[in-house]
Amino acid sequence: MDLFAGPGGLDVAAEKLGVPTVGIEWDGAACTTRRAAGLATIEGDVRHYGPSDFPDADVLAGGPPCQTFTVAGGGAGRRALDDVLAFIKRMVAREPRDQIDRDLAKMEDERTGLVLEPLRWALEAIDSDNPYKAIVLEQVPAVLPVWEAYEEALRGEGYATDSRILRTEEYGVPQTRKRAVLIARKDTEKVSLPEATHRPYRKGVGRESGDGRLDPWVSMADVLDRPYLFQVISNYGTGGDPKARGRRGSWEPSATVTGKISRNRIVSTTGEELERFTFSEAGRLQTFPSDYPWSGNDIGQQIGNAVPPRLAIHVLSAAFEWGSPSDDVLGKLAFWNGARSDQAPAAVGRVPRKRAELAPMAAVRS
Ligand SMILES: C[S@@+](CC[C@H](N)C(=O)[O-])C[C@H]1O[C@@H](n2cnc3c(N)ncnc32)[C@H](O)[C@@H]1O
Repeated sequence: MDLFAGPGGLDVAAEKLGVPTVGIEWDGAACTTRRAAGLATIEGDVRHYGPSDFPDADVLAGGPPCQTFTVAGGGAGRRALDDVLAFIKRMVAREPRDQIDRDLAKMEDERTGLVLEPLRWALEAIDSDNPYKAIVLEQVPAVLPVWEAYEEALRGEGYATDSRILRTEEYGVPQTRKRAVLIARKDTEKVSLPEATHRPYRKGVGRESGDGRLDPWVSMADVLDRPYLFQVISNYGTGGDPKARGRRGSWEPSATVTGKISRNRIVSTTGEELERFTFSEAGRLQTFPSDYPWSGNDIGQQIGNAVPPRLAIHVLSAAFEWGSPSDDVLGKLAFWNGARSDQAPAAVGRVPRKRAELAPMAAVRS
């Protein structure tokens, strides 16, 4: 059960692991991509649904949109975080939903309520004696304090939990991106986020140096079919200084893929302007299959929003207690349909509305 499902980064990972998914997503463009990919999708607001609408789902996953909680003390960020933490306590104390909803409606930032949605789903499932076996949540690093409060809440409900910041290049993603990830597991004593498989990237440090037990990080050149060296010049300057725009070479992992990736310039080593990243290439930097049928508007934003499926395969495998994923499973990310994207079906099915119309969900191996 994937809340705030976006174009399907988490779902692609789950499907490749053989776990059927259903996602709730309200953005029409992201839903267009999901349907083109054949992912079961409810186009709607997560707040209008609950676990009783999907009684067969036994894993809860999600990446709710969040405020930036700047935790350096003081300021609006700290207050926003304090508000969220106070709501978590009230929810755990099982204060009636209408009372909590009333106070949430008074909050200036609607995202305060959205970041609490996975907890509402988890607690409602527990209270109806159908708790999720595993829970997986992902967001930007600033959300880690919220995941820590979630951990405390979920431990009190009988879950083992783990949360920390993961660096995507340490899991073989050809991109540096940091994410705060939480996993929780019912009926087990201890659950642990996956161990790194690849070395961390450090500017100016060669990929062969470092811990010999780990694989070297993966570069852009390793996954893209561009038979020449190039440099990517980021759209963003450091501190607004255009001269300080970040540069990454094709022999390095990509900088974090954002919704603005198509604004990045690509130049040859002699400074010649080259073709910018296609959507397929940007998707590959996020470890989406090269033929993923990106569709609808603002595809750059959809790509930038997603969890890299390769990271998600590692995280889901840890949450399911399946151990490290095999190369065979990870290799399945190369293709979605096994055809080029221009040969993929334009759309598959329609939006399932009622429970009976959803694809059946098999129980996850426990
Ligand atoms: C960070 S993205 C999630 C990406 C996703 N986990 C993936 O891997 O592709 C957050 C998504 O939440 C969606 N969203 C925001 N508020 C929502 C709501 N109330 N109900 C449903 N979807 C919502 C946004 O449109 C966005 O696509």
